Amino acid sequence: MPLVGMRDLLNKAEKGKYAVGSFSVANMEMVMGAIKAGEELNSPMIIQIAEVRLNYSPLHLIGPMMVSAASAAKIPVAIHFDHGLTLEKVNEALELGFTSVMIDGSKCSLKDNMNLTKKVMDEAKKYNADVEAEIGRVGGSEDGSENLSILCTGVNEAKEFYSETGVDALAVAIGNAHGVYLENPKLNFNILDEINKSVDVPLVLHGGTGISDEDFRKCISLGIRKINIATATFASVEENVRKLYNQSENVDYFKLHEKEIEGAYLNVKRHILVFGSQNKA
Ligand code: 13P
Repeated sequence: MPLVGMRDLLNKAEKGKYAVGSFSVANMEMVMGAIKAGEELNSPMIIQIAEVRLNYSPLHLIGPMMVSAASAAKIPVAIHFDHGLTLEKVNEALELGFTSVMIDGSKCSLKDNMNLTKKVMDEAKKYNADVEAEIGRVGGSEDGSENLSILCTGVNEAKEFYSETGVDALAVAIGNAHGVYLENPKLNFNILDEINKSVDVPLVLHGGTGISDEDFRKCISLGIRKINIATATFASVEENVRKLYNQSENVDYFKLHEKEIEGAYLNVKRHILVFGSQNKA
């Protein structure tokens, strides 16, 4: 199965009324574990890395590996650049063969966000790649370095943004936040419902870690077609490795490698089953 585009996966998810998981990775073991889960469940999937993570996982190293893993997978896998902040890195991802990029203009005014998104769409078109944008503001921050407050997406803003840009996927802020929620998240389903009825574009939910299975299902019933999961997979890898060291201090390196893969696999599998994308490859 080839490396595929995000928009195609999301259009199919729209028809089938499920969501595609977009799973963050930071190393080869996480890529292997995520794809193993997708293959076992015969599920389409998206593998992503955010710009803020590149200090740990340089794009010129992890990018080609992600693209190559997707090309060799038995299921359709899109490779996505998450929360692009600079045109330089977005272009680098496109050049490496990422099939979609997000440009995060959520801190800009609506007008500047639209202009920035259009600029990236022009660039992405040259590579036949898709573009995701965000309006409103998802709380927290991708790497926990900031604690941004949540600013719910306005329905009129969403309409204007989409009619002006025609972006391929739109991330909404409905009370969701990146990282670990300090209290149980209270998602605003009314806003999501209104956006979904007003704008004909696949909607994206960021900050998947800590959202209940019930809320995921409700979001999917209201038009969410891509769900981003990062922190929960990192935590699952850490926990799996910790268990290994709790059993014995003398750990063979390759056992550690195996446990990292398994940690990513377990969390990705769990989420695919909730998102309903199994057997949709
Ligand atoms: P979490 O870390 O909360 O799962 O959020 C992931 C995300 O939205 C990446 O863009």
